[in-house]
Amino acid sequence: MKNIIEKIKKLKEEKNAIVLAHSYQNIEVDEVADFVGDSLYLSQMAKNTNADIIVFAGVYFMAQTAKIISPDKKVLLPNLHAGCLMADMINHEQMVRFKKDYPDTPVVCYINSTAEVKAECDICCTSSNALEIVKSLNTNRVLFIPDANLGKWVEKQLSNVEVITYDGNCPVHNNIKIEDITEARKRYPNARILIHPECKPEVSELGDYVGSTSGIIDYVKKSKDKQFVIVTEKGVADRLKRDYPEKEFILIKDNMLCESMKLTTLEEILYSLENEVNEITLDEKVRRLSSNCIEKMLKVSK
Ligand code: 13P
Ligand code: SF4
Repeated sequence: MKNIIEKIKKLKEEKNAIVLAHSYQNIEVDEVADFVGDSLYLSQMAKNTNADIIVFAGVYFMAQTAKIISPDKKVLLPNLHAGCLMADMINHEQMVRFKKDYPDTPVVCYINSTAEVKAECDICCTSSNALEIVKSLNTNRVLFIPDANLGKWVEKQLSNVEVITYDGNCPVHNNIKIEDITEARKRYPNARILIHPECKPEVSELGDYVGSTSGIIDYVKKSKDKQFVIVTEKGVADRLKRDYPEKEFILIKDNMLCESMKLTTLEEILYSLENEVNEITLDEKVRRLSSNCIEKMLKVSK
């Protein structure tokens, strides 16, 4: 493994490449990553980098987003099968049908969506800025796609905005029930419970903190507490255990695994960078249209 890591590092230098890694990735990927974080942070890094090549250790929509906002760079996704179950729940045709019933209503799209779907939306958001983005629209009604849980969570935080949601979700997070949280509370009465807003809103409501993957990591960093129940994908708990060995982290369920995220290996990163394969390409018209909603988001969330 050491050999592979050294080879990737050398290639990064030779080719002026960077590796962006999502916090759900296999943890060994961090050894070669220039930036590790949530989907907002990684899209900001993709936009601001001077690198010629971006290797995205994440899932398809993340690499595609990097290509949309940095079209002159070569964006590589080491394993092209790394999709997102939620993003696959809405295609372009379903998107057009959904918004047809609500003319003149702004459409907010969660970043977990394809470029073709983003091209039909007004503004993008991530789990860390969804509330801020909806507020920035200054309207009393929005359409929100594809994550119904995040959309309804945003609606609960605002007293004066109706959020009409599409029926999508992330099966990894949607699987968590109210009883899972109440049992964890009983079992670990001193623990802080930190929840990703892709969980059902009635579940999120029971957390001590609700936020993105980076938000959860940041909460731990600032907290004096010693024990935390992590209600998101395993990669976050793995990184917290590595970085805060003096604290205790309990993953809410053993099966909190995003299989797509785990497809990317160091071997595949090396192979794609060495041969410059598995490149993300986009139709220019779709790219231009989809970049509008991402750029608008990046202006609001600096
Ligand atoms: P973050 O915005 O926290 O990176 O979440 C992305 C994601 O896919 C969570 O399932
Ligand atoms: Fe998509 Fe869920 Fe995996 Fe996040 S955890 S990338 S929403 S399938």
